[in-house]
Amino acid sequence: MKGVILAGGTGSRLYPCTKVTNKHLLPVYNKPMIYYPIETLKGSGVNEILVISSPEHAGDFMQLLGSGADINVDFTYKIQDGAGGIAQALSLAEDFANGESLAVILSDNIFEEAFAEDVMRFKQGAQIFVKEVEDPGRFGVVELKEDSTVRSIEEKPSFPKSNLAQTGLYLYDNQVFDYIKQVQPSKRGELEITDVNNLYREKNLLKARKYLGMWADAGTHDSLLEANILAQEAFSGTSLRREFKAESPILNSVSPKVTIGLITCNSDRYLEPCLDSLLAQDYENLEIVILDNHSQDNSTSILRNNYADIELLESEENVGFARGHNKIINATDSDMYACLNADMIFEPNFISSLVRAISEKPIYGSAGGKLKRWDFKGYSENSGDVREMGKTNFIDSVGINMLKNHRFEDIGQGEVDYGQYDDPKDLFGISGAAVLYRRKALEDVAFTNQEGNKEYFDEAMFMYKEDIDLAYRMQWAAWKCRYTPSAIAYHDRTISASGSSTWEIIKHRNSKPSHINQMSYLNHKILMQKNYADDFSLGVKSSTSLYNLKMLMYLVLFEQETLTQWWKFFKLRKKIQTQRNTMPRRVSQAEIEKLMKA
Ligand code: DAU
Repeated sequence: MKGVILAGGTGSRLYPCTKVTNKHLLPVYNKPMIYYPIETLKGSGVNEILVISSPEHAGDFMQLLGSGADINVDFTYKIQDGAGGIAQALSLAEDFANGESLAVILSDNIFEEAFAEDVMRFKQGAQIFVKEVEDPGRFGVVELKEDSTVRSIEEKPSFPKSNLAQTGLYLYDNQVFDYIKQVQPSKRGELEITDVNNLYREKNLLKARKYLGMWADAGTHDSLLEANILAQEAFSGTSLRREFKAESPILNSVSPKVTIGLITCNSDRYLEPCLDSLLAQDYENLEIVILDNHSQDNSTSILRNNYADIELLESEENVGFARGHNKIINATDSDMYACLNADMIFEPNFISSLVRAISEKPIYGSAGGKLKRWDFKGYSENSGDVREMGKTNFIDSVGINMLKNHRFEDIGQGEVDYGQYDDPKDLFGISGAAVLYRRKALEDVAFTNQEGNKEYFDEAMFMYKEDIDLAYRMQWAAWKCRYTPSAIAYHDRTISASGSSTWEIIKHRNSKPSHINQMSYLNHKILMQKNYADDFSLGVKSSTSLYNLKMLMYLVLFEQETLTQWWKFFKLRKKIQTQRNTMPRRVSQAEIEKLMKA
């Protein structure tokens, strides 16, 4: 396979740095930018390389790179007059390719690892490499199907369909030149490489692979700076960023204080494994506060006798999940609040990983980790088996998805964990079983009730779905939610989610105690009344109405007792309306819809 390095274009986004030189000659960490794509091709076993550049700077490239003999590479040079686009630049490589396949790389792309195996395996068609990014709108955005084939690629879309960017390395067979001839200039007057890739896709000849190493596109001032930092980290073995942070009194501000809030209610059997795993956390600035919801078992005596150092608030009645947590949040003043369930065990880095994740950006209002199933029964019945503590490899939840019809589902539930959720990402929300909130975000979305108390979770919701309501309100208030797979915990969940078909939902409802179905229904209505926007698109409105209708029909036929919740809902209408009117709404309905899955 031969290689093509595209180093043309005007570099206008890096002006004035590119006023007298070419973008690809600017330094990235310790060498000119173009050295990186050369090394990537060389490391992939590609030694015959065509460098395509603009007429003004072609001489500089030749002076810098020479024949390539000193690095065992054979360079050929070609000029692209003007900046007619990546595909137009590539069309100049037809004679050079001479019927062979090509590895094409954009000169402003820096890859940590080379592609030797992909190059070796490549036979025909085209292959692209995709990478999860936070700002997909800057790139060609790739939407994958469930079987990892490509559904669509859109060049710099205003509404990206995924967070997968098409990186600047492409493998093509010799047909690429025929496809380029079919492509028309885009709105910005360029022959787009994305259009060429889409032609391969339409013929089912396009493969995509997720690239796991570090990748940077150094095309803008900010991304060039980021590329310098990433290259320093990836290729020098040290991290200036980390050292700078450690030494800088400003960046290394005191680690935020975290309150872990737990509600116990007849939870005695869980206390020892749960609390021991919390006391073993590697995060130091931490306090644990427990509110006991009037347990009738040994919970309070175990807490008083064995965990005397842990602060215990005792409630004289069972006030539920939402009110219980509100009481702890109101009674503490930490920077972060970890809302955790007692029927769980936590890996020692659980809290520190979440704190790190939520601290990445000030707009993160909540963060969650990978929750797996805890086989508590197996563990407690065979109490000799303390080695693995009943940890399983089944996923309990890696976050909450909001569907277009306003069903909310735990992501990954019941799946075997084979690494499919190992990339950090922004999500709609996190299960209230284990979620870290930033206090600033909690305060921002809190309601003050008639008694003058702050309600972070809505106390009209005794339990269930209050986490979804809070996640929804945070999204409206522009607080983002971060999933980090390195925070792992195990959960003995009694109530699990249903599948997605109507039949599975019905079967699932039948298996749950009636009072839970009733609470869930009421809480769904409350959160909808508060969060649903009148200007949602027709698609969202119609699928939500259809789902509501199906639900109502089911209740009328099989679950009439749940309909009594309408009366409770009616009585709450004024309170909900006040909340709806006062909650912060800083993002548009379109932003919210972007979070919804089909
Ligand atoms: O970096 C990955 C992205 O690169 C992909 O996600 C996009 O799908 C792809 O279109 C491209 O987007 P950019 O906006 O980053 O392309 P840019 O115009 O910056 O061009 C990237 C490199 O391609 C540039 O450093 C030199 C080369 N090039 C570009 C143009 C427009 C040429 O050789 N000739 C050209 O006419």
